[in-house]
Amino acid sequence: MEETWIISLLLGILPIVGLILWWWNEIWYLRGIKVRCSKLFNTNNNNNNNIVKIPPGHLGFPFIGETLSLLWFFNIIARPDDFITSKKYKYGENVGAYRTHLYGCPSIIACSPSLCKFVLNSSDKFKQEWPTTQVLGANSVITLEEGPRHGVIKNFIVNYINRPASLTRFLLHVQPTIIQALQLWSHQHKIKTFYQVKKVTLDYTMKYMAHLEAGTQIHVIEKLFEGVASGFRSQPWNIPGTSFYHALKCRKEIMKKLKEQLDKMKQNTAIEATDQLESRSSDLMSGLLEMKDEEGRHLSEQEVLENVLSTILLGHMSIAYVLTWSLYFLHKSPQLLLKLREENMAMVKKINSGSLTYEDILKLKYTNKVAEETIRMANIAGFVFRKVTDDVEFKGYIIPKGWNVIIWLRFLHNDPTNFDDPMNFNPDRWDVARPKHGAYLPFGRGSRSCAGNTLVRASLVLFLHHLSIGYEWELLNPNSKIKYLSHPLPVDGLEISIRKI
Ligand code: HEM
Repeated sequence: MEETWIISLLLGILPIVGLILWWWNEIWYLRGIKVRCSKLFNTNNNNNNNIVKIPPGHLGFPFIGETLSLLWFFNIIARPDDFITSKKYKYGENVGAYRTHLYGCPSIIACSPSLCKFVLNSSDKFKQEWPTTQVLGANSVITLEEGPRHGVIKNFIVNYINRPASLTRFLLHVQPTIIQALQLWSHQHKIKTFYQVKKVTLDYTMKYMAHLEAGTQIHVIEKLFEGVASGFRSQPWNIPGTSFYHALKCRKEIMKKLKEQLDKMKQNTAIEATDQLESRSSDLMSGLLEMKDEEGRHLSEQEVLENVLSTILLGHMSIAYVLTWSLYFLHKSPQLLLKLREENMAMVKKINSGSLTYEDILKLKYTNKVAEETIRMANIAGFVFRKVTDDVEFKGYIIPKGWNVIIWLRFLHNDPTNFDDPMNFNPDRWDVARPKHGAYLPFGRGSRSCAGNTLVRASLVLFLHHLSIGYEWELLNPNSKIKYLSHPLPVDGLEISIRKI
């Protein structure tokens, strides 16, 4: 009797509790928005309908929002794009905006070219926000708030690392490192590509950005950068055991090394021969030391060091991801590899030195297409975040103040309305018309767009050249699961065996 009573109570209460939890976020976050926004909406639309539309969707459960659903699509069934596709089916296409609650905040997902473009180009309304600036430093181009200081440092970095003269030197310095690494890997039984490639890219970005030789210390330095990478987006809980605490310790060590290098540079400048100065002046640290801001003043040491740290960090990690993915995609498309090899063998015959120049890189048309397709499909920056500073209206929908916008870049690149047969690795798609405006944004857009896009492309083409002319490789776990968070990578780190041809 008592049992029956408990069961009926549970059957009655559980659905009610479930319903309350299911609607809690919707009621909590949406209350007031419609009233607050009706004025804005009516003014902008010149009508008196008083209908304020918030993008369709659901804010999920209290605190966790739609996190479980995200993990389901990204981690469990490994079909990340279905997270958005399922919303399209459920709520319709509308303007490519859905409401959700992710990463602890009510958010609007932007997944149409027009909305992504609008958000990225409207930096006055949509601000970049970091949980903390302590790990990368408040002077880094990544963490600096929008404004003249960010603009001046960003412009300098972009021009400095991507200009043809610097890239020419970059290629000259980097090639022996890549050639040596490929040879070394081919003597090993098997390698975990990502982790090996990361050492190489760290080695050469350190040279390129700071004229710093890692030498035998590479493993230690790599661990330090890994520590910084794991903590620069985390909550600033400075407690032993947290990734933030560890990141701060790693930052301190790296900054010490960079400062030593900076002091050496300053000392040497006076006594260095002109030719040494010439070769050194292609590194970013020297450039930042010499640069003057709009008032003719040099940057402070802290500004130089924090920007060098940030560019080495982002540079070596992101290049390592795309190089790894190039091996993955090409192995799955042997006929494309043959075509790539053909173009690069032809180039080898043309150049006598064995070393590519920047002009040679630009001439490798097919290789550049393979690089672009790798960047599209690798989607290593799957989404970027903005905080909404004021209620904004977009095509009849309100994007509420205080919410996040998650610009879902990976969906743009995998959406069949933007790219034919998007999951097919097809370098020749880049022959046909360019993607429609806003549909291809691997490097973001607007004032916060990527500082290293040309450098990445040149690095990838260079790697593909040396790889394709001399090597063949096997994936040891061709069906390895892929982890998509935080950055896509086969879970085995892409284990391969590679040999000379
Ligand atoms: C395939 C490789 C890469 C991809 C897909 C990529 C993607 C991106 C994206 C999407 C942003 C914009 C973030 C936002 O709007 O919030 C960004 C910013 C940035 N990237 Fe990259 N990136 C890559 C490689 C690199 C490299 C090699 C470097 C350095 C040398 C670099 C340095 C930066 C910096 C400094 C910013 C911040 C710019 C700012 O806030 O003004 N990136 N990147």
